[in-house]
Amino acid sequence: MRLSPSLLSADFARIEDEARSVLPGADRFHWDVMDGHFVPNLTFGPPVVNALRRRLEEPFDIHLMIDRPAEYARQFDVRPDDVIVFHVESADSPADSIASIREAGARVGVSLRPGTALDALAPLLDEISHVLVMSVEPGFGGQAFMPEALDRIRLLREMVGERKIEIAVDGGINVETIRPVVDAGAEIIIAGSAIFGKPDRHAAMRALRKAAGDAA
Ligand code: DX5
Ligand code: ZN
Repeated sequence: MRLSPSLLSADFARIEDEARSVLPGADRFHWDVMDGHFVPNLTFGPPVVNALRRRLEEPFDIHLMIDRPAEYARQFDVRPDDVIVFHVESADSPADSIASIREAGARVGVSLRPGTALDALAPLLDEISHVLVMSVEPGFGGQAFMPEALDRIRLLREMVGERKIEIAVDGGINVETIRPVVDAGAEIIIAGSAIFGKPDRHAAMRALRKAAGDAA
């Protein structure tokens, strides 16, 4: 299991310090890019993420909750082990989004809203290395985990088969929900409010790892 804290729940005025506050401990950092169209919320875009990319060492997952991922993905100054995730429901074609992410130099990830059928992934499985299963409606931190995500993770595991595709889960992860998610087959666990909403982030991460049954 790898833990990817979502900075959406951090103090944006001190974002670099907030990211460092989960080191050591965080395996990656999760950045929620929102455009006020694809989801009813606005956050930050390439200039902010790129500035932080220059100042942090851990891999980034850049979660594009935007209508036009193909237009913007190439604007991220990423490293080869970063992943840029687009939504299958966005307006651009998956082929264009994948091409733009490759042009940026990142690994390709795909996400789906909780109500989108997993079939949408079938034609993409040979093109991607990461699937982000949403366990809340995208747009906001601090929402309740949708238990339907567990069956979706299990189904996805079967669909993926022997391919080298990592499964990430995003939304409503806390000490109660993390264990079933890991047991269902998710390897990258994103958590926002369960880490940045706590005064002691290291204690929060230890509690999550313990609840997940992680030895570390
Ligand atoms: C929601 C974002 C999540 C969010 C998760 O649209 O994609 O990454 O930060 O927040 P929590 O962990 O608080 O549900
Ligand atoms: Zn996210």
